Amino acid sequence: MDPSRISLRPFKLSDVDDFLKWASDDRVTRYLRWSSVNSREEALTYLEKVAIHHPWRRSICLDDHSIGYISISPESGDDRCRARLGYALAAEFWGQGIATIALKMAVSSVFKELAGLVRVHAVVEVENKGSQRVLEKTGFLKEGLLRKYGYCKGEIRDMIVFSFLSTDLVL
Ligand SMILES: CC(C)(COP(=O)(O)OP(=O)(O)OC[C@H]1O[C@@H](n2cnc3c(N)ncnc32)[C@H](O)[C@@H]1OP(=O)(O)O)[C@@H](O)C(=O)NCCC(=O)NCCS
Repeated sequence: MDPSRISLRPFKLSDVDDFLKWASDDRVTRYLRWSSVNSREEALTYLEKVAIHHPWRRSICLDDHSIGYISISPESGDDRCRARLGYALAAEFWGQGIATIALKMAVSSVFKELAGLVRVHAVVEVENKGSQRVLEKTGFLKEGLLRKYGYCKGEIRDMIVFSFLSTDLVL
């Protein structure tokens, strides 16, 4: 994959048809905290109410078409130094290095864009080996196993936590 074809940008309502293609796929949303969207109307509502208003949610684009997303959600108060990472990519593009390219772009810009942010962390289901590999390739540190950490699709799961600090950026 030519990295110059990949970009990150905020979502737009006009992404609705591209967004629906991958956000309606249960393979893509299997490990996500949100469920597949089932109609164009639901996709529009999601873009309008969730994606566009999110503090830092970017569309992963191939030739400016949305093929996935990355969200970095900052905490508040005494936890404002950290933010939680989520991401997914359309299944037809898996295995071409695109998520790794996109995550490297995200970490190289988010610390400049979100004031006071020092740590980005991701929690990944134990069996989601592809996602763990993407985090390692991006330079995240595997910190450890979180037992019975949270629900995913109705089931309490063990998860592995990974983190990337602003000081991990190679200048
Ligand atoms: C996880 C996801 C974003 C990866 O996207 P991608 O563009 O295919 O990732 P990359 O091609 O950059 O890298 C994938 C790596 O995982 C490896 N991998 C994939 N499946 C694997 C498996 N079952 N076991 C071990 N390694 C695996 C690949 O070999 C590759 O590593 P390599 O470059 O060393 O060969 C994509 O599969 C996805 O959207 N999954 C569903 C949503 C999801 O799980 N999101 C993360 C929630 S924490």
